[in-house]
Amino acid sequence: MHDIIKDLFDLTGKTAIVTGGAMGIGKGIAMQLAYAGANILIVDIVPETEAQDTLQAIAATGAKVAYLQTDLANTANVAGVIAKAVSVFGDVHILVNNAGIFKYMPLTQLSEEMWDKTLSLNLKAVAFLSKNFINTLIERKHGGKIINISSVDSLKPTGNLSQYDASKGGVRMLTRAFAKEAGKYGITVNDIAPGGINTPGVARIAGDSVTKEQQEAMMAQTAQFIQQLPLQRIGQPDDIGHAALFLASKASDYITGSTLVVDGGLLLV
Ligand SMILES: NC(=O)c1ccc[n+]([C@@H]2O[C@H](COP(=O)([O-])OP(=O)(O)OC[C@H]3O[C@@H](n4cnc5c(N)ncnc54)[C@H](O)[C@@H]3O)[C@@H](O)[C@H]2O)c1
Repeated sequence: MHDIIKDLFDLTGKTAIVTGGAMGIGKGIAMQLAYAGANILIVDIVPETEAQDTLQAIAATGAKVAYLQTDLANTANVAGVIAKAVSVFGDVHILVNNAGIFKYMPLTQLSEEMWDKTLSLNLKAVAFLSKNFINTLIERKHGGKIINISSVDSLKPTGNLSQYDASKGGVRMLTRAFAKEAGKYGITVNDIAPGGINTPGVARIAGDSVTKEQQEAMMAQTAQFIQQLPLQRIGQPDDIGHAALFLASKASDYITGSTLVVDGGLLLV
């Protein structure tokens, strides 16, 4: 391969923060950024012991990795995240806002508690973490990249996820609003809208349907869903990792305020 292409995707010397990186899509993203040479700070609510597999896999790529256990749904915790990356790695260049929760809840049963919990993590934390990141980059006089993980639900609601869809619609517009203001500082802000991706979070939703009949109905629904997809397979965390690598790299330097849909063609169905 020509060095020009290698150089486009080389993240050596860059530091990336990946929220919700202990598992699932966040792990897929952290792995790809690590393969490209970035230092990785994983920020997640689970104890470090539960993230060991991920941390070891990242270290095995040769990348430097650090961990911060924190609940990002509490805005008071957001302030420490950028400071941690700078204290461990000396600087910060890439922020991936991936941590998010999704809980099936028909609108007739929508609870204020679930609304607040979802919006706090999925939208408010993205706003204030991004704000801190941008202010840090302005002080340090260099550019950077923000990658928000939205969802195809920000474009077309699945159903029974109204609090989630509202949060992800918010992420999509926040991406555009921040991109407009941050561009002059050399900072790009884009979002990735995944379709159905095989993750522990999705498995948990399936487990929420408790009776045997519900489990069977869910499995039949999933099989039908995959069959209908133009690419006829469920997505994997690496599929999102590859898109994130593109948006974190020089290859995407002239792209900002965009949504990259990575859904196997789901929105065409
Ligand atoms: N899996 C999909 O099909 C799919 C589709 C579209 C969008 N997404 C989005 O992708 C992102 C990741 O989803 P996933 O499927 O990998 O989920 P997941 O549940 O498998 O992983 C989410 C990670 O976020 C962490 N987390 C949860 N609450 C947190 C908090 N309060 N503070 C810090 N970390 C917290 C979890 O511990 C976990 O490591 C989410 O924003 C989700 O909405 C997922």
